Amino acid sequence: MKILVSDPVSEQGVAILREQFEVDVKTNLPAEELIRIIPEYDALVVRSETKVTKAVIAVAERLKVIGRAGVGVDNIDVEAATQKGIVVLNAPEGNTVAATEHTMAMMLSMARNIPQGHAGMREGKWLRSKLMGVELRGKTLGIIGLGRIGGGVAKRSLAMEMKVIAYDPFISAEQAENMGIELVELADIFPRADFITLHMPLTPETKNLLNKESFAKMKPSVRLINCARGGIINEADLAQALTDGIVAGAAVDVFAKEPVEADNPLLKAPNIILTPHLGASTAEAQVGVAVDVAHGIIAVLKGEPISTAVNMAPLQSHVLEVIKPYFNLAEKMGCLAIHLADGRINAVDVEYNGDIGEVDTKMLTTAVIKGLLGSILTEHVNYVNAPFIAKSRGIKVREVRSKEKANFADLITVKVHTDKHLHTVSGTLFGKEEGRIVTIDGYRVDVDPKGWLLIGPHYNRPGIIGKVGTILGADGININSMQVGKTDVEGTSIMVMGVDSDVPASVLLKIKAVDGILDSKLINFSGM
Ligand code: NAD
Ligand code: MLT
Repeated sequence: MKILVSDPVSEQGVAILREQFEVDVKTNLPAEELIRIIPEYDALVVRSETKVTKAVIAVAERLKVIGRAGVGVDNIDVEAATQKGIVVLNAPEGNTVAATEHTMAMMLSMARNIPQGHAGMREGKWLRSKLMGVELRGKTLGIIGLGRIGGGVAKRSLAMEMKVIAYDPFISAEQAENMGIELVELADIFPRADFITLHMPLTPETKNLLNKESFAKMKPSVRLINCARGGIINEADLAQALTDGIVAGAAVDVFAKEPVEADNPLLKAPNIILTPHLGASTAEAQVGVAVDVAHGIIAVLKGEPISTAVNMAPLQSHVLEVIKPYFNLAEKMGCLAIHLADGRINAVDVEYNGDIGEVDTKMLTTAVIKGLLGSILTEHVNYVNAPFIAKSRGIKVREVRSKEKANFADLITVKVHTDKHLHTVSGTLFGKEEGRIVTIDGYRVDVDPKGWLLIGPHYNRPGIIGKVGTILGADGININSMQVGKTDVEGTSIMVMGVDSDVPASVLLKIKAVDGILDSKLINFSGM
């Protein structure tokens, strides 16, 4: 596997990747050069400079994962990546403190005219009487977007004795109240706030959210901070509002086009302080995001689930801890269930019983579907595209969770409904991570799903298992394990044989022809 790092990221992250994979660091690549070389790579690591466009993704035939060493993924065409089954992951926490502290630094610098004082002194000017500032204490701070960074800014601003109000449509008033913050509507922030700071992503809803109409509703003494994303504030409107005294000041770290072009109106606006997207630029944050992204990339390349993918069902890290040991089992159960099934698949039910039924199991269900579709389709199926492929093939996927225990502390049951039959497989963990199949179509078994397994339901008659053994032996196929599973219904059993190698179709036909054999299926778990 080969990894391309196309933006400058901390060497500590690159070193982690190099321990396991071949890594090329090639920065400042022109767009056409990236398109030329990307087909060689399995993973791509970027910050915000590389634009991972539809055209790049279209030719990225081997690409499995794009890792963003930072938060915002607006430089990546996530939709195109998702359609191609490419995982897009970010490093959402590594630079939170850096961006939070930069916001505080911007707010204080703006309130006390620090950059202007410094620049004046460099020019030999003593601007003491001109640079009158304001205090933060007692002022109202309006935070738009109360996530990781917004929350961090709130905490620090409360410590500086500010009153904090916030607008965030996706958090509850109770959550905000617990943080000592009054949650308000966006329109309420404008007339009340002395400082307004932005901490949400750039989306079609947030683009140009602050513009000449909103500035007109604010106090003329208002000071604005944008350390989130360029484009959330309309730059031309802000430059005009600063010039006309509609707003008193602004501090901006992020721009609609980066690096800024010489004609950006903010460069010449009065009462503004500017930094060149420095929010995450601390030594600690850059190591943090690079290391986080490296671990995420390695997990994806090894087929393991992660909590930081932006184009998969969101997963909290404490939930991942609980469900992680079940992923491999769930995938193998999907693979086994589909091999048992004949006919057209209409629906797949995945049931969770016991302690596992108490957590969010969506990703485990995706693992079942990945195992199920991955073993019958030639197209690449992974955690990103498995739900889309199931949907596009008209397969209904349903999930049932219950705290009730069903013979085991935890039990996962996969039911595949076809137009002919219903096939059922259940599995559990023995110990902390040993996956076991414990029922196949109602027969009680104890199967370690590894290597090649030959499965044959049959009538309970003497000699049948012996005949199957003889057929395999005649073809030089070694049996390495063997068990017979029973049901509550008398008369039939299931044999589950571990074999050392593939069983040719002609041999399977001979086994099926044995009098008393009801079916014969071969499943290959090698490589799963
Ligand atoms: P986060 O996901 O933790 O928080 C974002 C918050 O915005 C969420 O609570 C969400 O509910 C809220 N939100 C979404 N849409 C909204 C809307 N229309 N109105 C109001 N709130 C809305 O993200 P974060 O880690 O706190 O990052 C916040 C922003 O800062 C992102 O844009 C990120 O890219 C940017 N960032 C910039 C720098 C930098 O170098 N300047 C560094 C890190 C992050
Ligand atoms: C981010 O979204 O993480 C920041 O903008 C910082 C960066 O681009 O590295």
